[in-house]
Amino acid sequence: MTRRPLISGNWKMNLNHYEAIQTVQKLSYLVPKETLETVDVSIHPPFTDIRSIQTVIESEDFDFHLGAQHCHWEESGAFTGEVSPAFLAKLNVVYVIVGHSERREIFGETDEMVNRKVAAIQAHGMVPIMCCGETLAEREAGETESKVLGQIETGLAGRTNDQIASLVIAYEPIWAIGTGKTATSDDAQAVCAAIRSKVRELTDEATADAVRIQYGGSVKAANATELMSQSDIDGALVGGASLDPDEFAKIVQFDT
Ligand code: PGA
Repeated sequence: MTRRPLISGNWKMNLNHYEAIQTVQKLSYLVPKETLETVDVSIHPPFTDIRSIQTVIESEDFDFHLGAQHCHWEESGAFTGEVSPAFLAKLNVVYVIVGHSERREIFGETDEMVNRKVAAIQAHGMVPIMCCGETLAEREAGETESKVLGQIETGLAGRTNDQIASLVIAYEPIWAIGTGKTATSDDAQAVCAAIRSKVRELTDEATADAVRIQYGGSVKAANATELMSQSDIDGALVGGASLDPDEFAKIVQFDT
């Protein structure tokens, strides 16, 4: 099966809503419309930018998908500072990153919380981008697969095959995030293939074939083509390089 590539820009806590509007407008000039006929592109700004970016995307008819970086699993209630998936759906958010390693490491998100969020995001008709990845110490101890596949198993628990087929998994080795170090394409491919095998074991062949797996961790224009040419890598989750429209536009055009 041919899976449609998904290139996602995770802006993290960068760019206020004025800067965000300029960045998306600039990106729209730099990415040819034909590219977006074959590649999905999602933009994940901070919460305070989402309404502004929604307005720009919709009024100017840009083919970018709106994304969020995080949400809560509950609909509403006494959760100071949290954002409901229902609110994101109302803003036409399509993709929601869940379980990013920064959320796990700095804000204590567990695999169980990730699992509840994946369910809540799908209940609102949005697509989770569920992150997984190992630390350098885990990699050096030979624990990459056990860590990553454990995160996948718990994160996807209780999901039907159809639900799993429609979501996105992002493999992001933690030691490669924001460090300028990238997994070699062979290493990234090996882990992404192991993730697909795990999905096959949990579901079936068709589901494993359909699920999209992104690689993330210091993706830039210079390494995107090589990473994207790997058979089990269907996209990229891009942090730092997505803040620069010129660089991100080149990543989006990885196959030209
Ligand atoms: P990076 O971040 O591209 O800056 O390494 C990736 C991510 O955290 O999603």
